[in-house]
Amino acid sequence: MDHFIYQDNTLYAEGCRVNDLAQQYGTPLYIYSRATLERHWHAFNNAVADHPHLVCYAVKANSNLAVLNVLARLGSGFDIVSGGELARVIEAGGDPAKVVFSGVGKTVAEMEKALNLGIYCFNVESSAELEQLNDVAGRLGKIAPVSLRVNPDVDAGTHPYISTGLKENKFGIAMDEAEVVFARAHALPHLQVKGVDCHIGSQLTEIQPFLDAMDRMLALIDRLAEQGIVIEHFDVGGGLGVTYDDETPPHPDVYAAALLARLGDRKLKLIFEPGRAIAANAGIFVTQVLYLKENSDKRFAIVDGAMNDLIRPALYSAWQNIIPVNPRNEQAQVFDIVGPVCETGDFLGKDRALAIAAGDLLVVRSSGAYGFAMASNYNTRPRAAEVMVDGDKAYLVREREKLAQLWQGEQLLP
Ligand code: LLP
Repeated sequence: MDHFIYQDNTLYAEGCRVNDLAQQYGTPLYIYSRATLERHWHAFNNAVADHPHLVCYAVKANSNLAVLNVLARLGSGFDIVSGGELARVIEAGGDPAKVVFSGVGKTVAEMEKALNLGIYCFNVESSAELEQLNDVAGRLGKIAPVSLRVNPDVDAGTHPYISTGLKENKFGIAMDEAEVVFARAHALPHLQVKGVDCHIGSQLTEIQPFLDAMDRMLALIDRLAEQGIVIEHFDVGGGLGVTYDDETPPHPDVYAAALLARLGDRKLKLIFEPGRAIAANAGIFVTQVLYLKENSDKRFAIVDGAMNDLIRPALYSAWQNIIPVNPRNEQAQVFDIVGPVCETGDFLGKDRALAIAAGDLLVVRSSGAYGFAMASNYNTRPRAAEVMVDGDKAYLVREREKLAQLWQGEQLLP
């Protein structure tokens, strides 16, 4: 459930009229709902109840400082994949002791920064990275807490670009090498083995792939115990899907209960890395219709938002619901909703039945995750403004980029 609902035939974001926000801040515009973010985070956190756990929000989904700060105030941990994300977490008031650092390509500088800040754990993805981290920690006189990301070779049944747990993917350490790499990690002097982790993909709408992965990981944890390698935590990654259309992903309660049942009486602490499940439906993208146009085959609504603002439809053929801010009581017609960028792939939605006219405001729902975070300046388009609503108050949490910012740092030849 989210807090974007119609009242009196106009769309509201919590207690704010989307119309008014578009008027005040301009379009294209991202709007986030604090109440929805908090609701989703609590849904996850409460689902695990008393079992020792840490919810580490995946910063990549939406890294706006205000979003991170709202979650940090709830006591959230964070899953990061770069020094930049770590800096954002700190800037937003997040606790480095609740940070897990994922990603296949951590640099020495990133390792140093994370070690100096005292993060909770490095999710190490290869033997080479393990050796590097041991060297860096030794040089700094520190012990690096590590978990190894193991690839369970499970098909997440999601889009190939966001599926990560198969052998053919670049992520993690192969299951059949895992014990050898764990033994090495255990033996290295500047590392402390803390955990095991996996992440099999994103936008999973079935529970079974998570359970298959968990079974394989628990079997590994048991084998490690026989070798005297004691694992404190199991990081299950992120990936729980959301409803964009008619998907019915498991509620966090059902998901957590199934995982806990599998755990049995093991005392393992559970770490979760949800991104989309917390942020996606806590955000909308507002865009204005510039022109309507039709040819013999198609009707187009050309809007002021584009693939540079919201790339999911173009990149993954992702479907996100598109609704009018002020529904018209007229016959709907079928439109492709396209942006001004000079690419055929620049669409926000295809074949949508809508009653619209030039000047109308449209909303692309479920845009709080992997929306602004993946935005670019392609076609020299300034990135959109971001607003967060909190009840009947709205706050500008990132101003619209100004053109001069786009070429800041560029130089002419003498
Ligand atoms: N942990 C790790 C190690 C990850 O790689 C990811 C996402 C997450 C957690 C969070 O996954 P989530 O709970 O959000 O599914 N841009 C794509 C999604 C890419 C996901 C990458 N990894 C999209 O817009 O669908």
